[in-house]
Amino acid sequence: MTTRIKPLTQRPAWKALAAHYKKVQDLHLRKLFADDSKRGERMTAAAAGLFLDYSKNRIVDQTIKLLIQLANESDLSGRIEAMFRGEKINVTENRAVLHVALRAPKGAIIKTDGKNVVPEVHAVLEKMNVFSERVRSGRWKGHTGKRIKNVINIGIGGSDLGPVMAYEALKHYSDRRLTFRFVSNVDGTDFVEATRDLDPAETLFIVSSKTFTTLETMTNAQSARAWSLKGLGGNPKAVAKHFVAVSTNAEKVSAFGIDPANMFGFWDWVGGRYSMDSAIGLSTMLAIGPENFHALLKGFHEMDEHFRTTPFEKNLPALMGLLSIWNNDFFGASTVAVLPYEQYLKRFPAYLQQLTMESNGKHVTLSGKNVDYQTGPIYSGEPGTNGQHSFYQLIHQGTRLIPCDFIAFGHALSPLGRHHDILLANVFAQAEALAFGKTAAEVKAERTPDWLVPHRVFEGNRPSNVILAERLTPAVLGKLVALYEHSVFTQGVIWNIDSFDQWGVELGKVLAQRIVPELESKATPMLKHDSSTNNLIRHYRKLKKAKPVWNPARREKLSPHSHTASKGKL
Ligand code: F6P
Repeated sequence: MTTRIKPLTQRPAWKALAAHYKKVQDLHLRKLFADDSKRGERMTAAAAGLFLDYSKNRIVDQTIKLLIQLANESDLSGRIEAMFRGEKINVTENRAVLHVALRAPKGAIIKTDGKNVVPEVHAVLEKMNVFSERVRSGRWKGHTGKRIKNVINIGIGGSDLGPVMAYEALKHYSDRRLTFRFVSNVDGTDFVEATRDLDPAETLFIVSSKTFTTLETMTNAQSARAWSLKGLGGNPKAVAKHFVAVSTNAEKVSAFGIDPANMFGFWDWVGGRYSMDSAIGLSTMLAIGPENFHALLKGFHEMDEHFRTTPFEKNLPALMGLLSIWNNDFFGASTVAVLPYEQYLKRFPAYLQQLTMESNGKHVTLSGKNVDYQTGPIYSGEPGTNGQHSFYQLIHQGTRLIPCDFIAFGHALSPLGRHHDILLANVFAQAEALAFGKTAAEVKAERTPDWLVPHRVFEGNRPSNVILAERLTPAVLGKLVALYEHSVFTQGVIWNIDSFDQWGVELGKVLAQRIVPELESKATPMLKHDSSTNNLIRHYRKLKKAKPVWNPARREKLSPHSHTASKGKL
């Protein structure tokens, strides 16, 4: 599959793009728009209810032609088909990559290793539907007979960021009688704060972990079990009513003490960061109900079909991926700002950070050769308009080029007076200001003193995309996530990297496991790290021994978490 494709920088389209870049790099968006009155209408694409305006990128028609030629020379179509066919395109883990099967309709056939996976997907969905209805209706009772009012998802990375993002994004559609919390960090504060005001008799934990071995999640799950049992009289039978698991590892789940009947499975062909629409989305379904969850899946599927079947010049994920390559590899833009003008999408940038950076933060090709070009850019962002009063200054007038993705909606979910028009005016104003800026002549014309003029000039020529949709619904969220998933895939194909492994997280995990006993041992450990790490460990051990200035035991009276506080008689 990869051998007949030339290394990226030797592909004719890449060379042509490099030459083309030299010609167009200094063209200003002011001129491009002035010379072509239809540019803002022409350089757009729409699909599945999403509208993409990419006209404010530093491109001309030839750029798009060459980028599509690059996609063709990189066999993007073939690689899309290979993914949808269940081929093991995650080569370093020898796994298929079939998140698209998670949202395939019931009758679809998607095979890997000769087996159609769609029936299993729908069997798990059905089990989730039944469970969600039981909890939401109050038919599922806790150990003492009380109904469940609180749901806490314990997970990290893909087992947390998708659920928490989707919960926040779709809060408008959620059952407000239920409280949802998300515990991810091994910092005990995360667990303590999430549970401090909750009654264990009314609290259900979802332990979400693909592997069921992740240190943070297992540590939090153990603390949750201790908290639950303490509050429920210590009977281990209570676990069955207050814990369910989402995992691919049935053995570990039952070793933890969770009844396999209360386990919701998924498969090794679902990557953690591509799993929010698998059983990892159980908390989402509990919050918004099965019907809305199925609408979310439909939205994903609609974008999947668009990606699979639409020519690249009208294909939203392909265009976004290719434009990202243009900005990243030719203009040297090393970051992307994701700016949703929708408060409910406040966790979307954090979600995209894992999706994009864990996927495409790679330095070798599929065959293990060092790349000689940049791969995944850094993603960050905040909802607008908040970011405008914080980091946008650097985007407008700093020395770096930061392409922006603005995301906005025609309707507010919480309509309030003039708020939505003001919000949307800001989206359009920001994209306009970034593109066109303000010249020295314009600044001078405002009678600005000469010495102040340079400070008030906006160079402009800062690229952005604007994505518009009617309103944020479960289906639209599915479409948006799938749009970015496939844009990430497009980029990974061009760079010829494995977008579906994550070896870069391993080393830190292994070293942490080695250091834990060195921090906990009573006897002074024999440290064999470098001099800095050794010294830091010694310093921490000293800090641990020092008398605290504040006595945590006093807190015990106020906090239900006395199982942790009671150890400290200080
Ligand atoms: O950080 C690495 C990682 O493997 C992510 O890819 C994954 O989403 C996360 O850890 C959690 O893993 P698990 O679901 O197995 O607990």
